[in-house]
Amino acid sequence: MRMRISPSFGSAMASSFTVCRLHTIGRGSLAKCLQKVDTFLHRNIGTNVVAVQEKNGFKSLYAVQAERQEQAEKSVLISCHSRTNEQKFLKYIANYGDIQKYFFYESYGMYAVVEFANQESVASLLEGTAIPSISHESLVPFKSRLLSMRNLDAVDLPNQSSGKKRQAQTSIPINELIQRLSKEESIDQQITSLTEAYQLTEENCRLRFLVCSLLKDIAAAFFPECTIMPFGSSVNGFGKLGCDLDMFLDLDGISGKNATMPKSGLFLEYQMKRANLERIVTQNILSVIGECVDQFGPGCVGVQKILNARCPLVRFVHQPSGFQCDLTANNRVAMKSTELLYLYGELDPRVRHLVFTVRCWARAHSITSSIPGAWISNFSLTVMVLFFLQRRSPPIIPTLDHLRDLAGPEDKCVIEDNDCTFVSDFSKIQLESNTETLEQLLCEFFEFYSSFSFRTLSINIRKGKEQNKPEVAPLHIQNPFETTLNVSKNVNASQLDRFVALCQESSWLIQQNKTAPSRGGTKAKGAITPWGVSTLLLPSQVAGIKSRKRRKFEPASERIKSLLESLKNINKELN
Ligand code: GTP
Ligand code: MG
Repeated sequence: MRMRISPSFGSAMASSFTVCRLHTIGRGSLAKCLQKVDTFLHRNIGTNVVAVQEKNGFKSLYAVQAERQEQAEKSVLISCHSRTNEQKFLKYIANYGDIQKYFFYESYGMYAVVEFANQESVASLLEGTAIPSISHESLVPFKSRLLSMRNLDAVDLPNQSSGKKRQAQTSIPINELIQRLSKEESIDQQITSLTEAYQLTEENCRLRFLVCSLLKDIAAAFFPECTIMPFGSSVNGFGKLGCDLDMFLDLDGISGKNATMPKSGLFLEYQMKRANLERIVTQNILSVIGECVDQFGPGCVGVQKILNARCPLVRFVHQPSGFQCDLTANNRVAMKSTELLYLYGELDPRVRHLVFTVRCWARAHSITSSIPGAWISNFSLTVMVLFFLQRRSPPIIPTLDHLRDLAGPEDKCVIEDNDCTFVSDFSKIQLESNTETLEQLLCEFFEFYSSFSFRTLSINIRKGKEQNKPEVAPLHIQNPFETTLNVSKNVNASQLDRFVALCQESSWLIQQNKTAPSRGGTKAKGAITPWGVSTLLLPSQVAGIKSRKRRKFEPASERIKSLLESLKNINKELN
């Protein structure tokens, strides 16, 4: 679904607006985006009272989430008449309280996200909001923070002064990306530019937390103390515009907050329904919440309850944001994996750049897909990149075992007998001085997996070393926390073969196209010749490959011919 953002993301009524791209997750700019957060925060997330630390410019995922969650709770989502005057709109909203931030975006109509300075303003806005008057239908009287701005007067003309360019919220089409990258001057710049084009924006990130907060309002009808937090690529630093929104319904805050039990005498306890298995409780809760989302949730469509999956979930589309949502509960290990990936991404900027490039490359060649199947998932692919970075000499990132060894008592975490402990204090992590460039790393990544012995070895980021495969599966990637599981169990032999063949081809291609044809981009008859990373995103010649035998490279002339052919087609499409 395409979503566009209009002029600004800025303080209400400010005369000049700054469009702030998301560097929320990126290391340097993270501190900038969240500079108002105190150095030490103590937040209550679920059962954990987490001491959140910011050291050397690093911020833990908890700090980011707590900050974002607080913003979301003070926000409303308003569908606007597409020709409503922006200034008039803001003036009306400002009647209810101070507006902290706002932005507009387009997703089958214009929407505004407005964040107030405090929650009282949201309450007062909701107090002043009318119930729709309809004559032929009946309403579900559930009030949420998803509203519609109506205009009884003649349609306003759009505000001329605010007609700034709208920012796209979906990632740019691959052809456009190829063109953009071809204009860069080095492969390192291409990789950085790719990350900038694809990473989540500040606005998109806020919208994700707001959708969680709106969902929480539904779940809170039954569980007032629950929280709903995003996890996965929405927050782990590797999210691409348009990625799904994975949500975690956290009910531990309810069972965990126990009144102190007296040593003797009387005390009261809640009567609670029981079930034999925790899984059954999770399924029942998700079933009921899923039903409520379906029946009462404004903007939530296509609700499917997938309760028999290994991790039961409710899947739906949140139409106003355009997000494909997966709501899970009792999924703490996935939260820990998210935190781990976030930590790795924060340790060295090359991690995020390489993951983005490899994810983008994999998507361009349909190695990954948004549809579940026998393909490699983005999560598996990310773990493969991390493993590769651990295998550099010297390693760029430490092993998970090392991160566990650095953990303090406050980091101790065991979930269903799985040791999920790792250090949260970034300042304890000493990195080795590896100075490899992104270009070197990308080439080496393809080389590494071109010749990896998938037949006998397992990828293991806990040890940072290949291990013997414990089971028969084409691709074995040990689950970092549930160590008996293989995160790529779903991958079949032919998908792995394609991956290997594409690594071989890409390794060759990048070697052949390492330099820009001429400095500053080559322009022949108005066309830009792909080179470097761009060539890796062009249609591949190995789509139908079946065998895992190392591919014999075709003569360069053949390759270049087909490359130029693809380029011609791309230019035709663009013109
Ligand atoms: P995209 O949604 O494809 O952008 O990436 P994602 O990282 O969000 O992947 P996905 O939505 O499939 O899964 C969400 C999160 O669940 C991941 O980031 C992991 O933390 C976790 N996860 C996904 N698959 C597995 C798995 O096989 N094992 C484990 N332990 N966790 C998984
Ligand atoms: Mg996801």
